[in-house]
Amino acid sequence: MEVIIVKDADEVAVTAADICCDMLTIRPNATLGLATGSTPIRLYEQLVSRYRAGDISFAKVATFNLDEYLGVGSDSPLSYRRFMNEHLFDHTDIDFVNTHFPTCAPGSDPRLMGPEYEDKIQRRGGIDLQVLGIGANGHIGFNEPGSSLGSCTRIKTLAQRTVNDNNRLLSENQIQPDMALTMGIGTILNARRILMLATGESKARAIARAVEGAVTAMCPASALQMHAYVRIVVDEAAAKELMQTEYYRWVRKKNESITAEHGGRAGEDPWFHPSLRI
Ligand code: F6R
Repeated sequence: MEVIIVKDADEVAVTAADICCDMLTIRPNATLGLATGSTPIRLYEQLVSRYRAGDISFAKVATFNLDEYLGVGSDSPLSYRRFMNEHLFDHTDIDFVNTHFPTCAPGSDPRLMGPEYEDKIQRRGGIDLQVLGIGANGHIGFNEPGSSLGSCTRIKTLAQRTVNDNNRLLSENQIQPDMALTMGIGTILNARRILMLATGESKARAIARAVEGAVTAMCPASALQMHAYVRIVVDEAAAKELMQTEYYRWVRKKNESITAEHGGRAGEDPWFHPSLRI
């Protein structure tokens, strides 16, 4: 895994936005896997301002969000659809028809929605770049500790810690949902490139376990060690418990010197090199 340590949350957002923009430059019709939560908000701000500056377009892009609460309508302030509209979609030229969430219409059987979502992703040709945050307990999407490392999209009961962590986002009279439809760890691992972001000390333990710990269902993010193209962008606070920070910084310098020697950014970044079949 390529660990990129930068100063603070703003630099995490800029670095992640550079990577997303490279993807959209190389493949304007890219399929993006997207996350909600507080971590990617600044990334989405960056993407909106780069769209406004004319650097990128979302006109041909399709998106698949990682997860959505069960039983929460798209008009609810709690819904991830609404979150994405507010933070990204409403401010770009994306066609809303191409934005997807694992949802379940009232009265439908939520157990059948997972395979449907997987089919939709397959019909679009798979996910080119999956953006992830990480829970303090190591979850990705709503794959809580103990989730199968090969899991597909399905309903999932949230861990108590996740319910507590998410409480901070609710206003007084809102009831915290405790079930969600989420892409599985297997779904995430099928993405061609994975970009995980983490900021703040509350994520330091989870990042250390995900990057340097054993691959285990008890830390779902550790499954990313099995993927060939993962970049993890963290600020110094989230990197605090990593043991090999000097090595990650050294690798970054070496990679930058290779990029400088062999070509500029978009299209030349070895992570997106055409020969690697993005
Ligand atoms: C959200 C998601 C979650 C979050 C994680 C971190 O779609 O899939 O896994 O990425 O809970 O949330 P924040 O960024 O709010 O700390």
